[in-house]
Amino acid sequence: MAWYDKFGRKDLPWQQAITPYRVWLSEVMLQQTQVKTVIPYFNQFTNHFPTLDDLANATLDEVLHLWTGLGYYSRARNLYKTAQLLATQYNSEFPSSVDELCKLPGIGRSTAGAICAIAFQSPTPILDGNVKRVLCRFLGITEYPNTTKTQKMLWIHAKNLTPTQRVRDYTQAIMDLGATLCTRTKPNCDTCPLHKTCYAKQHNLTDQLPRKRIKTTLPEKTSQFLLILNADHHVLLEKRPPIGVWGGLWSFPECQQAEPVDFCQNKLKATCTFLTSWPNFQHTFSHFHLIIQPQLMLLKSQPGQVMDSQDYLWYDHKNPQNIGLAAPVKQLLQRLSTYIESNQNEKHYESNCIVS
Ligand code: ADE
Repeated sequence: MAWYDKFGRKDLPWQQAITPYRVWLSEVMLQQTQVKTVIPYFNQFTNHFPTLDDLANATLDEVLHLWTGLGYYSRARNLYKTAQLLATQYNSEFPSSVDELCKLPGIGRSTAGAICAIAFQSPTPILDGNVKRVLCRFLGITEYPNTTKTQKMLWIHAKNLTPTQRVRDYTQAIMDLGATLCTRTKPNCDTCPLHKTCYAKQHNLTDQLPRKRIKTTLPEKTSQFLLILNADHHVLLEKRPPIGVWGGLWSFPECQQAEPVDFCQNKLKATCTFLTSWPNFQHTFSHFHLIIQPQLMLLKSQPGQVMDSQDYLWYDHKNPQNIGLAAPVKQLLQRLSTYIESNQNEKHYESNCIVS
């Protein structure tokens, strides 16, 4: 605690005006994401939705829009679900016990622990990635930490170490120690307040602990992203199914093997011509690499079914809708708007060139 008082972080945005809502939001954003990435998202989000009710009264698309680029979008969908549940069934108040919090979508045991400790100051342990690393090193836990058995043991240690006094500061302190000193690579043991009693430091094992999983190479998937332009230079977006990667976000129609022109005819009932391909690029998910092949297409006839459906929209880069977009989709839309702007005087696009 003496180390925390001197060196811990005290000026993070979610450490100001602490409320259960702000703590919950920050903890969800900080799952799998670094503090420096989260800060602008947190600020933007709390400006738009200062309270839980503001969030509950928003639309999912507004929420996903503000989440765009932060990744792991199921977090945003769960956040929204939880806000609505709390607003309708909990009188817009957060429960203050781990068990009750864990019933809410997107709140696991560690996030629930952090909310209890930070927002409600109740002596509740947390065990996120940083804390796991600190405990494995400090206590000399040599098993692979993510097995059920070792997890159980780590939770017991985390609980026993959590104090009854100053639990908010302790919780922040152990996270800060993990994030700033006891880092994954090159930990800064010389300035660590625990180095004299740390098992890993004393046994020269900091680069062996926590024990690493044997790396498996991620599989690769390839997908053609069809950027279909209409005569108004709007581009067709399709809403992805609610579950799975980018669930509920807007993306381009995708086809795997088919010829893009045939795909447009068969699936979208739209007659399109092929304009050009842009270079492939890779987007990596936790469980696979996606190789994206952008194909620019031009719509020749109004598609029958597309305009009727709630799952399609024509995106106008000059007047963009507030919708949730996956990061590579956002990137392609930016590139597309530059492409359209630089060809704005042209009336007709043709393959690989533009003919006025
Ligand atoms: N990671 C998870 N929760 C955190 C917090 N409250 N502060 C900094 N990093 C975190």
